Amino acid sequence: MTAPNPILLRRSVRDFTEREIPQELLHTILSEAGRAPSWVNAQEWRAYVITQETLKGYRQAYAVRAASGDQGAPDYPVTHRETWSQRAQQNMVQTGALMEQSGVMDELQRSQTLLFNAPALVFLTQPKTANKYAIFDLGAFAQTLMLSAASHGVDSVVAYNITKYPDLVRKTVPVPEDYAVVVGIALGYRSAAAVNSFSAPRMALGDYAIFLS
Ligand SMILES: Cc1cc2nc3c(=O)[nH]c(=O)nc-3n(C[C@H](O)[C@H](O)[C@H](O)COP(=O)(O)O)c2cc1C
Repeated sequence: MTAPNPILLRRSVRDFTEREIPQELLHTILSEAGRAPSWVNAQEWRAYVITQETLKGYRQAYAVRAASGDQGAPDYPVTHRETWSQRAQQNMVQTGALMEQSGVMDELQRSQTLLFNAPALVFLTQPKTANKYAIFDLGAFAQTLMLSAASHGVDSVVAYNITKYPDLVRKTVPVPEDYAVVVGIALGYRSAAAVNSFSAPRMALGDYAIFLS
């Protein structure tokens, strides 16, 4: 019997059970993520994995900041919606409407503030001076990490929301000043929460792939 395809298993999971991920498995996942391709094999990504007491402290500090109404100031600023491409705006509206229909919008907002109740968080960083292709490399690293996790039965979500207060990240882990905090990945085992029933739609193949022969 062939193993299930991790590409088809992966989707964003936004609420996790309390079950911890064994440290050896986290090492395996991060080690497999390091197989990602990169520009001139630079491998400029640096990942910080937090669990247990360290994560507890981060979650508490994060909750206080979120409760104060602070919208965050990520190292890579989020551009205003009006500047997005028409397609990105349409997709955002469509996804929002689907979430409203499935009744998961409130739970989604709550889960963001609780950092998805994840038992492990990964902060992804890269040098501020990195070649533009480094963001491609970091994306490849992130996806390889999540596919590795899926292949080992571990769920994930990649979220800017996890690192939107980069000063809190820097108080928690020793990110060098010349590194940017880019994004976070939550890892764990999916709970039965309704928010996890949401499945994001995809464009039809013909809308994004052009085949010529
Ligand atoms: C760079 C990046 C940042 C994201 N930030 C968030 C976030 O802050 N919160 C969230 O719930 N999902 C976030 N997502 C997840 C996307 O919403 C999700 O990947 C997309 O809707 C497709 O759904 P799927 O991952 O279930 O296939 C982010 C994804 C990427 C690639």
